[in-house]
Formats: sequence, structure tokens, C-alpha cells
Amino acid sequence: METKVALVTGSNRGIGFEVVRQLAGRGYLAYLAGRDSAAIGEAAGRLGAEGLAVEPLVLDVTRPGSVMAARSAVEAAHGRLDALVNNAGVLLDEGMAGLEVQVETVHATFEVNVYGTLRVTQAFAPLLVRVRGNVVNVSSIMGQLASAGPRYLAYRSSKAALNMITRVLAAELKPHGVRVNAVHPGWIRTRMGGPAAPGTPEEGAEPIVWLATLGPDGPTGGFFGPGNRPLDW
Ligand SMILES: NC(=O)c1ccc[n+]([C@@H]2O[C@H](COP(=O)([O-])OP(=O)(O)OC[C@H]3O[C@@H](n4cnc5c(N)ncnc54)[C@H](OP(=O)(O)O)[C@@H]3O)[C@@H](O)[C@H]2O)c1
Repeated sequence: METKVALVTGSNRGIGFEVVRQLAGRGYLAYLAGRDSAAIGEAAGRLGAEGLAVEPLVLDVTRPGSVMAARSAVEAAHGRLDALVNNAGVLLDEGMAGLEVQVETVHATFEVNVYGTLRVTQAFAPLLVRVRGNVVNVSSIMGQLASAGPRYLAYRSSKAALNMITRVLAAELKPHGVRVNAVHPGWIRTRMGGPAAPGTPEEGAEPIVWLATLGPDGPTGGFFGPGNRPLDW
């Protein structure tokens, strides 16, 4: 059987790093993708030392040239992509009021969380279609319309937009056998989640890895949380 290939954006640290570890542990050749070549080299080296098949890949989701170069590298090496995990994300308006946040901050948030995710998914879709793979968009319950409250306007609206992108692309890719789902990993102890978060990166990675490894009968166009529970949009 041919080796399955996975790519996780923003995986030099945090939840993405653990997703790479778990996918490689399941036998995937996992691309550890990030914007800083020194950081991804060091992170991939740590997983390689555990005996895992991990490849560092430079990929800044905000730079079209970087995304296309990464796509070309994966295509030349494998000609397929079985799992794309859009994990790269920023939180730039922590605790800030929506009435005060600078529009530039909202724009910078969308550059990574929304436009970056869309750009990467569009670039890799042909490789996913070849093997009827899975796309996982790492979202957040902060993007739920039903539970929205004050503050975090940039982050909340970026994840709400990501959820809509998930629905649209799931409908478009369904006829091609590709599943597209959104996931909330839980409140996880990372640089973004902070030291008070109750969940570990290992726990946060679990529902993501479940969605990245779905078979042909798996769900598509869904939003899931810890324990693989379906969530409201
Ligand atoms: N932690 C939580 O409680 C929580 C809860 C719900 C959802 N999430 C979501 O989970 C995902 C991972 O978050 P995390 O907690 O692991 O955060 P994190 O530790 O801050 O890691 C974020 C990752 O995204 C990368 N990144 C940022 N901008 C990028 C760009 N332009 N191109 C490529 N990579 C970029 C960062 O790379 P650098 O090292 O180069 O900055 C880093 O690897 C995010 O989408 C986040 O919104 C997290």
C-alpha cells in the first residue's frame, strides 16, 4: 500500500506540532509546515529523533508564492495529499472591544485565519481530489454565531468566516470524494491558549486527527469538538 501524505500548517509549535506527531505515529508521511525555516527544522528534528517520518516544509499561508512553492514540492515528491490540516492561526485582539479594535488588526487576522486557509486549500485541492482526501479547518467555538458575545471581534469573525468557507468547499468537493470539516480543539495550553487552559496539545489534537483520517463514509461539512461531538454553527 502507498504511504499516505499529510500536511499541517503552522505546526512548528502548539496544537499543530502535536497533530503532526499523531499523524506520523499512524504511518502518515507528515509535512511539518511553517513560515520560519529554522523553527520548522528544529521541530521536525525533534519528531525525527522519535523515529517519526516527518518532513519540514516552508509555508507562509499569507504569501501566494510560498504556498505555490510548497504545493509544487509536495506534488513533485508524492503527487498526492491525503490530509490537509489548516491549523495556522493568529489571535491579535485578545480581550479587546470590537468598538475599539483597529480595522488593520481585523485585516491582519483575516490574512492568516481566512484568506490564508482559503489560499492553501485552493492550491492543494487537486492533490486532495486525486486520493479523495480530508481537509480539516481548525476553527473555534469563538466563531459560533449562537454564542457570540462582546470582545474578540477580529478572531470571532475570522473563525465564523472560516466556518462558512468550510460549508461552501465541503459542498463543492463532495462530488470529488473530498471531505471538508471544521473543528474546535478545546481550550488548549499553547502560546495562544495561555497557561490557564485546561487541555493539553495531545487532547486538542485528537478530534483534528480523527477528521484528518476519515474514510470515504466519514462526515463532511460538519463542525466538531472534543470527543468528536458535533457542534452548532
Ligand atoms: N489554543 C486554544 O485554546 C485554541 C482554541 C480554539 C482554536 N484554536 C486554534 O488552533 C489553531 C492552533 O492554535 P495554537 O493554540 O496551537 O496556537 P499557537 O501555539 O499560537 O500556534 C500558532 C501557529 O500558527 C502559525 N502561524 C501563524 N501565522 C502563520 C502564517 N502566516 N503562516 C504559517 N503559519 C503561521 C505559528 O507560527 P509561528 O511560530 O511562525 O508564529 C504557529 O505555528 C489555531 O487556528 C487556533 O485559532 C486554539
